[in-house]
Amino acid sequence: MKSFYITTAIDYVNGSPHLGHAYEKVLTDVIARFRRQMGDRVNFLTGTDEHGQKVQASARERGIEPQQYVDEIAAEFRALYDRLEVSYDDFIRTTEPRHKQVVRDFLQRLYDAGEIYQAEYHGFYSTRQEQFLQEKDRLPDGSWPEIFGEVTEIVEPNYFFRLRKHQDWLVDYLHTHEDFIFPRYRQKQVLEFLKEPLNDLCISRPKERLEWGIPLPFDENYVTYVWFDALLNYYSGVVDKGLWPADYNVIGKDILVPPHAVYWPIMLHASGLPPPKALLVHGWWLQSGAKMSKSTGETVNPLELIERFGVDAFRYFLIREMNVGQDSEFTVEQFFVRYNSELANNLGNLVNRALNMTTRFAAGVLPAAGAIEDYERELHDLWPKTCDEVIALCEGFQFHTALERTIGFVTATNAYIEKRAPWKLGKSIAATDQERLRTALATIAEALRLAVALLQHVMPATTAKINEVLGYVPGPDWRRELDWGTKLNGAKVAAALVLFPRPQPPKAA
Ligand code: ME8
Ligand code: MG
Repeated sequence: MKSFYITTAIDYVNGSPHLGHAYEKVLTDVIARFRRQMGDRVNFLTGTDEHGQKVQASARERGIEPQQYVDEIAAEFRALYDRLEVSYDDFIRTTEPRHKQVVRDFLQRLYDAGEIYQAEYHGFYSTRQEQFLQEKDRLPDGSWPEIFGEVTEIVEPNYFFRLRKHQDWLVDYLHTHEDFIFPRYRQKQVLEFLKEPLNDLCISRPKERLEWGIPLPFDENYVTYVWFDALLNYYSGVVDKGLWPADYNVIGKDILVPPHAVYWPIMLHASGLPPPKALLVHGWWLQSGAKMSKSTGETVNPLELIERFGVDAFRYFLIREMNVGQDSEFTVEQFFVRYNSELANNLGNLVNRALNMTTRFAAGVLPAAGAIEDYERELHDLWPKTCDEVIALCEGFQFHTALERTIGFVTATNAYIEKRAPWKLGKSIAATDQERLRTALATIAEALRLAVALLQHVMPATTAKINEVLGYVPGPDWRRELDWGTKLNGAKVAAALVLFPRPQPPKAA
């Protein structure tokens, strides 16, 4: 069994979770479930990033202790991911002792190896991005880009990590590991960034400025810079399982350069550990062109769709709509388009027809197929093509196209029903027509069973429900579920299943 270790970014708990957070966890879950289906032994880690100035400030605003504050908000994130059926194996919080200990050991090791030194820091800090800025980050007119929010000047003695020393190693590593970053074009952006000499990284804040962090093991007057702390979760989360390096660190494009593509591999390299095998970088969900985030305070909350239309419809939409790596506009209108045309009227309709007709014409027991005719042959030929293509697409993270192909197969099955018209065959008492009817019922149910197997990693609960009404219990090896066969012969189906109730039309604004 191949081991597969995948992580998400850990979310800041300075506010409630939003669509961007939900998307990343669902995307990573879809990959984790797919790899499990393919037979890998998966370890899936997610969690929360709980230190730093932003979190400390949010706790102060609420007038409560940071620990109480992060306990509340972390529970909210975790509850959302449970609600979304995110199948994480472990949930790490950076305020847990198991994490803090690893961070302190790691820092001590680097300090002892001469990778960390003390010096005066003079520069600027963006609390919104929890990032030290430099003169070169200013816009041509001297102002700071919007994304940094309020920027404050700081002058203080601090500790620095020797990034510059490892710059040539990193450039060389990127040149020799072309698949380090997915999508590939982002690797070029990193190399572009690395054309300028790196400054060493300030990794501390004096306690009188920031209390809410992990104390440096070699100087308790300081706490650890939140990014240095947070990145190490990927390692601290598996340190006792021996699973490092990760196969994928899944992150959004805003935290690639410099934290994940520069600090992270250099931190690991400096301490003698290998970098993650790859970074998978997704784009942003936008609402009318603006990034939805806690810090800018956008108001529309797409997470409400979960309660109104179900977890799986929500998961389906996120995965169907977003081409991994690119940005996507989120609109409720588009959600309704996909919900109606692909789920309710297509998949839901096929389920209803399969159940209704089996109940009506075969007393609810699926018959064996008889001789195959051209009607069926078309669908039989389409299946292996669809299946192979979908698996290849999923292996390459092209889940949106994989879903399009799968739904295409559902459409073809509905078209087969129209052409074969079992209701007409049902009216004939001729033996040939009765055989055709049995073949049609078996074909419809088998095609549905197969399509549903390809939807399992995206819509796990819906898939389980459909299998249940088909009277079917899937075997342990997913890949063996994908052969067109006779698995449903004799199965007793349910009379009906309401899967995707028609939505109310969107409320006028
Ligand atoms: O950056 N669309 O936390 P975070 C898609 N704690 N993804 C989005 C998004 C959007 N509109 N907005 C945010 C942090 N994200 C750090 C990470 S990892 C060691 C530390 C993604 O809560 C974002 O790109 O600001 C990131 O991957 C994740 O949500 C958490 O963002
Ligand atoms: Mg952010």
